Amino acid sequence: MKALILSGGHGTRLRPLTYSQQKQLIPVANKPVLFYAIEDVIEAGIHDIGIIVGPNAEQVKKTVLSRDWDARIEFIYQGEPKGLAHAILVARDYLGDDDFVMYLGDNILREGIVEHLEHFKEGNFDASILLCEVPNPRQFGVAEISEDGKTIRRLVEKPKVPPSNLALVGIYFFKPVIHEAVKNIRPSWRNELEITDAIQWLIDQGYRVGWTKVRNWWKDTGKPEDLLEANRLILDDIEADVRVQTSARIHGRVVIGEDSVIDEDTVIKGPVVIGKNVRIKNSYIGPYTSIGDNVVIENTEIEDSIVLEGSEIRNAGRIVESLIGRGVRIINSTSHPLGRKLVIGDNSRLIL
Ligand code: TTP
Repeated sequence: MKALILSGGHGTRLRPLTYSQQKQLIPVANKPVLFYAIEDVIEAGIHDIGIIVGPNAEQVKKTVLSRDWDARIEFIYQGEPKGLAHAILVARDYLGDDDFVMYLGDNILREGIVEHLEHFKEGNFDASILLCEVPNPRQFGVAEISEDGKTIRRLVEKPKVPPSNLALVGIYFFKPVIHEAVKNIRPSWRNELEITDAIQWLIDQGYRVGWTKVRNWWKDTGKPEDLLEANRLILDDIEADVRVQTSARIHGRVVIGEDSVIDEDTVIKGPVVIGKNVRIKNSYIGPYTSIGDNVVIENTEIEDSIVLEGSEIRNAGRIVESLIGRGVRIINSTSHPLGRKLVIGDNSRLIL
């Protein structure tokens, strides 16, 4: 059994952050989203992992290899991201005749994949997909289940009249027959080879596609609000771990990394994760906030936000529900002319 983890794609919905970094590397609770997928796969006993890389291949390689994994990891270059089924096509040689799990590198699944993999193996399915109940199925790929409840009869992309409220999660198990399927489908209206078309091809040819339901939460982190929601969900489960001496007032579950300095006029209300070498003065860090390494925060209130490494926030008032990239400076100027002085990248959002 192998794993194919997808870490390509353009990530247009996460611009401007994705102009300079691959979206799967954006940290949630100070850990790159991609690492959650790698951990799930290894936990399920899979130690051969192919990672599909695209526009920022070197960055993904460097980040993944910065940690020791109990796995043999290979990087497979996709070139232009031409769809999820296209990723399988380019990984053909790597996958050989093994069964594999395909895991979208921007998805996070609270419960991991162990039980889902068992179901795939025990049912001897040709493929098996994960489904999650959602309140708004019109915005997802949705599955219609067969009468006996065991297999998938049909997949529909963003249906006007959804056949169920079961949305497709970005995790799929395949037998090698999927290679046949991806060769037999044509690009969709958006010019991508769609994995839903490949799975539908299997169904139409009489192959058995099983399914399992996600019991806990699942999050696709493709948009800023999804990243903030994933951050909240992950922080809900953290355990306190303060690695420094500080007289700051700390309430609830808080993690503080080594060499961070937090002064006595600061109040931190967990769940909060603060990285290494962070400087915080006279500030309030509220629930559901993740602060990366080497960040400076002074005279500011911040909550329910993600701040990436190396950013500086001084006298900035109150910041909520924000996603702040790397090396950003937010300061309150008192020099004339007064007013907001902005140097902002393309496709940024400011809600003042
Ligand atoms: P998407 O989020 O559907 O695509 P995207 O990354 O291009 O994002 P956006 O729509 O904002 O432009 O992709 C799902 C996952 O699969 C994501 O982790 C990126 C990855 N992917 C690839 O690795 N190769 C591909 O060809 C595509 C389409 C996606």
